[in-house]
Amino acid sequence: MGVSSVSSAVSLGEGSTPLVLASRLSAELGGELHVKYEGLNPTGSFKDRGMVVAVSRAVDAGARAVVCASTGNTAASAAAYAARAGIQAVVVTPVGATAGPKRAQARAAGARLLEVRGSFDDALRLCRLLAEQDGYVLVNSINPDRLEGQQSVVGEILDQLGGVPDVVALPYGGGGNVCAIAAGFARAGASPRLIVGEALRRADTWASAIRIAEPAHADEVAELVAAGRVEVVSLSDEELRADWERLVTLEGVFCEPASAAGVAALRRSGRGHTGLAGKVAVAIVTGHGLKDTANVTEPEVPAIEASLEAILEALA
Ligand code: F0G
Repeated sequence: MGVSSVSSAVSLGEGSTPLVLASRLSAELGGELHVKYEGLNPTGSFKDRGMVVAVSRAVDAGARAVVCASTGNTAASAAAYAARAGIQAVVVTPVGATAGPKRAQARAAGARLLEVRGSFDDALRLCRLLAEQDGYVLVNSINPDRLEGQQSVVGEILDQLGGVPDVVALPYGGGGNVCAIAAGFARAGASPRLIVGEALRRADTWASAIRIAEPAHADEVAELVAAGRVEVVSLSDEELRADWERLVTLEGVFCEPASAAGVAALRRSGRGHTGLAGKVAVAIVTGHGLKDTANVTEPEVPAIEASLEAILEALA
């Protein structure tokens, strides 16, 4: 799907990420939970699946530069694929609102970074205007090539699981990925229930990747909800943080805060009902933990003398 129609010169080997059985979380949630570990894509997030298609098509169309607004991951991905394609990437982010490692990725790849004194929504509005200039192509998820590429995760899930899961859960920021995955399953003739987790406090959530007050795909997501294909769960920062911690402490899956929204949405959606009882669920974990390490502050690490006695004392 999608990705196969792309110039291999631009590919960085995106996709083919592991599907991992999460036994301890499964026991907690009362079903069978698998984690699709999208943090293992080339730049550390699911964005690469769509970016390879969007940048490849932009190059074919004669673009000089690709442009995007971003909370960080789209920026890192656009920067890498633009570098590989030999064109410029221009990324616009809200000032002070993106995690340091994501900015480092974009800078390292030679992207032009601009921070606007405004929100993600302001940045996206400006990028749409910039993309009207000759030679610039917008590579946010309103670019259909992005969504076509992001559908490739669906075929992998079906293959790796050997069937259709009952439930698929994922984060809901701007909603591009919700639309891509709904379209991917429809195309495959499968209809799992999609449970998507958004931040209750969209404009100022702790999970910076999904700090988006006005989702670009809100209308399409509302249509999917009305059609009974998608359930939206609004999550507090405490709920997001709890499952971000549980993914790594119970399963060893280190992801960035926003990426835990699928698991947190599953947990909440199951509460008060029968839970996941007897069901097979896949949670799409969208970005790597190394993307955003500033939130890892516990437990404190003691500095000790360089002796075995000091180590044993500290462990006692
Ligand atoms: N998870 C992560 C790690 C993200 O970076 C994003 C979006 C999402 C989930 C939500 O996906 O917007 O398609 O609903 N990040 C964008 C960015 C906004 O600029 O990197 P969505």
